[in-house]
Amino acid sequence: MRKTTALSAGRGSVTPGKDAAPGSDTVIPGKNPATGPDTVIPGAGPAPRPGERATVRLRADGPEEPPAEHAPEEPSRYAPEWLRLRETADAAARATELLDPLRTRIAGRPDPHGGLVVHDLGCGTGSMGRWLAPRLDGAQHWILHDRDPYLLHFAAVAAAGAAADGSRITVETRRGDVARLTPDALAGASLVTASALLDVLTRDEVGALAAACAGAGCPALLTLSVVGRVELTPAHPLDAELTEAFNAHQRRSGLLGPDAVTAACEAFAASGVTVRVCPSPWRLGPDQRELTAQWLRGWVGAAVEQRPGLRPRADRFLAERLEACAAGELRVTVHHSDLLALPGPTGGDA
Ligand SMILES: C[S@@+](CC[C@H](N)C(=O)[O-])C[C@H]1O[C@@H](n2cnc3c(N)ncnc32)[C@H](O)[C@@H]1O
Repeated sequence: MRKTTALSAGRGSVTPGKDAAPGSDTVIPGKNPATGPDTVIPGAGPAPRPGERATVRLRADGPEEPPAEHAPEEPSRYAPEWLRLRETADAAARATELLDPLRTRIAGRPDPHGGLVVHDLGCGTGSMGRWLAPRLDGAQHWILHDRDPYLLHFAAVAAAGAAADGSRITVETRRGDVARLTPDALAGASLVTASALLDVLTRDEVGALAAACAGAGCPALLTLSVVGRVELTPAHPLDAELTEAFNAHQRRSGLLGPDAVTAACEAFAASGVTVRVCPSPWRLGPDQRELTAQWLRGWVGAAVEQRPGLRPRADRFLAERLEACAAGELRVTVHHSDLLALPGPTGGDA
């Protein structure tokens, strides 16, 4: 088994071999050796500042970065600890019923590269590849895209070891803005994947992504988008108000948040591609106390950031909920959806 780790020269400014492995406690959130300290909200992910958007080249012949004086602020970052914490719940939540139609489509495609070429967009520390690669047969080359070179490094060093049939897996990283992806950048792709990405994009960005996939004629498995519904057991009078405030927070600055899956379906439809959508909820109980507590902090924190008037009641709510969580008396379902798009000559048969 050979694993090739190729960090894109000039684009991913990470020093391999120096950082702790994913999952290590020595990783310090918000201290990015490449970009310096910045803001990370571990529970609900980062809160991007209005107007921010990284703009770097995805391809050597792609458009240049804007001049420095027009360059947007550095985007907020996701803590690797948060991505590690959610990986098991993500794996358990993923809609496995989408795998067979995906495998069928992949098997029917020409194979000029001697294996699958998979582009994982917004790969973070690479959890999608660790889950999917061992569930697909044949040699695979994963191209891991993210705007955060720190996360790309973790993704590259901890990529899946082998395909379902033992075939080799190679990886390379591409630092860049997936919102600027073109069909060109996906030329030769067998599959596009993303996990927990669509809901942090805008409608235009999801439209561009869908058009790029349709233009490249490759299937897309876009998973774990929030849909705006959570269930906490036992229920609490503040649940609905916090949910509403959290959803509004997710939609800030034009991001799709809970509208992501609907927007993606519309975008693929506009390109003549139908999609199949399946639920992929996190079901968190006493065995996932750490994740549940972290999620609660992020969920309540984002809701209060959106509606500061909620703070006194939200503080009491959080304290009670964390106590119940620690006692193993809280269950949380966080609803998500997975989406499979199958464009191409037989597009529409998803
Ligand atoms: C919620 S994390 C999910 C990470 C990973 N897919 C997972 O499931 O663990 C979202 C990821 O998308 C990346 N991301 C968000 N917007 C992006 C953009 N416009 N271009 C490139 N990467 C982006 C972030 O850096 C982060 O790694």
